[in-house]
Amino acid sequence: MKRIAMITAFCCTAFAGAVWCAGIWNDTNFTMEERKWQACPTDLVAGANDGVGDGSHHPADDCGICHGSNGVAASKVLTISATVYDSRAARRPVPGAEIVFQDYAGNSYSMVANDLGILWSEDPMSGDTSLGSADDSNTWRYKAWVVAGGGERPMMTMPAVGGMMVPRMSCNMHHVVSGTLGGLWAAPASTLRSYPATGLSYQKHIFPILRSKCGPCHIPGETVAEQGLDDTFDYGAGLDLMTYGGSAVEAEGTVHAKKGIRTIVNTSTPDASELFAKTIYGGTHGGGEFWGGDNPDYRALRQWIAEGALEN
Ligand code: HEC
Ligand code: HEC
Repeated sequence: MKRIAMITAFCCTAFAGAVWCAGIWNDTNFTMEERKWQACPTDLVAGANDGVGDGSHHPADDCGICHGSNGVAASKVLTISATVYDSRAARRPVPGAEIVFQDYAGNSYSMVANDLGILWSEDPMSGDTSLGSADDSNTWRYKAWVVAGGGERPMMTMPAVGGMMVPRMSCNMHHVVSGTLGGLWAAPASTLRSYPATGLSYQKHIFPILRSKCGPCHIPGETVAEQGLDDTFDYGAGLDLMTYGGSAVEAEGTVHAKKGIRTIVNTSTPDASELFAKTIYGGTHGGGEFWGGDNPDYRALRQWIAEGALEN
């Protein structure tokens, strides 16, 4: 059973991209690379596509196993379903989290999680009809965003729904391979409740921040997501923020060497650290924006760098 790891976030912010409006998708622009930065559509009523019922069973399960047209609950086919959790450990559901989908035809859908963090829809999805009938979930392609806890986060990957036994769709499919893809904890809230003004510790203060905010992507080992065709995407970007000095993990004969936190800090001019160039106020970061300059996490990181970025 795969669990999904998601963020906290809340209302969609203004759409930043330009080349994006309904009905213009095709094979060349409905790709993860093309769409990864795009912000959530703003013209939706939260929960407008919520499915009918209580939905109080099988949290975290792949609902489509039963709620597909060949499943035991074929009387109630769900097109989209998910359980939203606050972290990869899937301990706490996030009631009220909104998931927004946009399908290949440019239709957008909004669903809000119930008190168990579960959401679902029965509304039809449009597929890429050059691949077959839109009734066949093999043709469905979609971009998704998680909106909760004061921020919004795009799902980084756009896996095809196809290849399964029954037509269905489940957010778990974003969390393939190591379960690290997709939406993630990226709330603007600080990671620890408080930090000392000086004497910051890598182990006590810095690692928890990196683990919580960066861990979904910057982990050791291979982090290339295969998207079918020729579309691959390295969501870890050769950077392992779970180790101080980097890592080299061997898998199936290939060594995946990655840099650690030490390589992205500038101890003489902390503000010139690549870490901040990527994570403050957006910028062009595969992981998106994390903090403004007054955020407690940011201030703790900056102080730790100014004190020499030690592995203390
Ligand atoms: C092991 C099979 C199975 C799984 C997994 C499963 N369901 Fe169901 N579900 C059923 C059956 C069977 C029914 C009754 C169908 C009927 O009444 O025709 C049902 C009914 C429902 C209903 C209508 C009753 C109600 O609760 O209001 C909803 C909504 C629902 N399921 C949502 C979900 C969601 C969302 C998921 C995933 C988190 C899920 N189900 C996972 C088997 C399953
Ligand atoms: C959702 C996945 C994701 C998360 C979470 C994430 N990043 Fe990234 N990061 C990427 C991707 C993809 C790239 C490569 C594209 C780019 O350079 O922006 C990247 C690149 C970087 C780079 C440039 C690395 C290089 O050598 O080119 C830095 C620095 C970085 N991220 C820092 C961070 C920090 C610090 C955090 C946590 C606060 C974080 N990232 C969280 C996906 C992520």
